Amino acid sequence: MQLKKFTSYKELSEATAIEMLTLLRQKPNAVICLASGDSPRLSYQFFVEQAINEKTDVSKFTFIGLDEWVGISPVNEGSCCYFFENLLINPLNLSAAQVSLFDALSGNLDEECKRMDKVIMEKGSIDLMIVGIGMNGHIGFNEPGGSFDKYSHVTDLDETTILVGQKYFKGATKLKQGITLGLKHLMNSKKVILIANGNKKAPVIKRAIEGAVSNFFPATIIQQHSNGYVMIDEEAASLLSN
Ligand code: F6R
Repeated sequence: MQLKKFTSYKELSEATAIEMLTLLRQKPNAVICLASGDSPRLSYQFFVEQAINEKTDVSKFTFIGLDEWVGISPVNEGSCCYFFENLLINPLNLSAAQVSLFDALSGNLDEECKRMDKVIMEKGSIDLMIVGIGMNGHIGFNEPGGSFDKYSHVTDLDETTILVGQKYFKGATKLKQGITLGLKHLMNSKKVILIANGNKKAPVIKRAIEGAVSNFFPATIIQQHSNGYVMIDEEAASLLSN
């Protein structure tokens, strides 16, 4: 794992966007898995702007959504699906065939997990994964205490995830479970970038990088990825020892 520090959220976001653009220039049919949330929002905006300006071929890559809130409709603005439709899929005119998002309203969520695992398996592997970190150390909805050895799965959400997750929704929203790619997918990905910004992420970044690797703080798994990067701004880095 390597650490990259940036002076601002803007610089961090530009660098993350460049990672995506560089990959697509080298490998237009790359498989890219992305988290939603506040941390990567600006990265995706920069990515879309640049891709349009530079006329990057975005018609061949496969886009995989990292996770979704179970039972939340894709038209709910707090859903991951809504986030991606607005930020990435519509602006870049991505085709349905190149996008795989979890259907969190599916009557058979186990089948939904199998479907997602099959998409990834058939593509070979994920070339680039961009993830955030939760205030409880989760990645995707790989919650504290979950296994490092899982592929896609449904999980009960941790209290912190339920509480913090309210920020994405207009009104108080009942959140109970998540459907997510597993940490096996993360470890099998060719490159993983964990991004974080702001003072509030400083304690979790410290624990993710300097703490003992443990499934009780899932983000610590990034320490074990041979091509894993933690990209953070100065505020998120403010509690690190060195
Ligand atoms: C969202 C996801 C979550 C977030 C994490 C950080 O798709 O996978 O694990 O990455 O909760 O969220 P933000 O970036 O909003 O602080």
